[in-house]
Amino acid sequence: MSEAYFTSARAIPEPHVPAGWKVLPFPELDSTNSALKRLVEQGAELTEGTLVWAKSQTAGRGRAGRAWVSPPGNVYASYLIAAPAEARAAPQLGFVAARAVVDTILDLPRHNAAPPAVTCKWPNDVLIEGAKVCGILPELVTAPDGARWVVLGIGIDVEPVEVPDPAYPITALKLHHIDTTPAHVPTVLSRTLEKWLATWRRDGFAAIREAWLGCGPEVGSPLTINAGKGPVSGEFAGLDPDGALLIDNERGRERYVAGDVLMGTP
Ligand code: BTN
Repeated sequence: MSEAYFTSARAIPEPHVPAGWKVLPFPELDSTNSALKRLVEQGAELTEGTLVWAKSQTAGRGRAGRAWVSPPGNVYASYLIAAPAEARAAPQLGFVAARAVVDTILDLPRHNAAPPAVTCKWPNDVLIEGAKVCGILPELVTAPDGARWVVLGIGIDVEPVEVPDPAYPITALKLHHIDTTPAHVPTVLSRTLEKWLATWRRDGFAAIREAWLGCGPEVGSPLTINAGKGPVSGEFAGLDPDGALLIDNERGRERYVAGDVLMGTP
């Protein structure tokens, strides 16, 4: 990224972030996650709360190697967060982010008074009225000095997008009378993320798990997971203390650490 790139980016109305955090705004990037990972790997001097924000992405990435459709008008944000001491705790940050996104959506100005139903789908999706509005991609990255960071990528659809063959029904903030912009959403999100990060560090993952369950599916709801060996259906039985998904079915209680969840049965 050249100095000219930063100079041209300065003209963009950009998100505001809490004291001590910093925004690097871009008109277009391949992927905000890839750009922030490159900066870390190149040894750039970065601090926690650095936000790489782009108006559009040409190679937005989703979970499991999928593409994330990224036209102008939606939110493409990647935050730099100091990795937890144990690498296996890094995915906890996806739950922290999901909880922050729920609060963000409920804090945004709405045309009508009634708040929409905003819920979490395992592991890190946020739904409005049962359709996906936000995807989250946490990635571990190591700097040349050995410091380990999590790049926490968050995509939120403000405007409806055309996604060929979506794996899940999708929606957008504007379809729920939420009147906002791609710069204002990360302004609110940075505040809610700062708050939930502080809770995670102070009270541990147990507090995040509880908060996630507060907006997750009802225990006993039917769901189907595809973890690579064909779909498995059962009833949602909560989360293990480490965030793994628990499903009850005729085989007993099953535990999943990765997979794509569909609410209901196929
Ligand atoms: C998912 O598959 O649900 C995760 C989608 C994550 C998309 C966001 S958009 C900002 C950041 N940059 C990327 O390339 N991906 C994440």
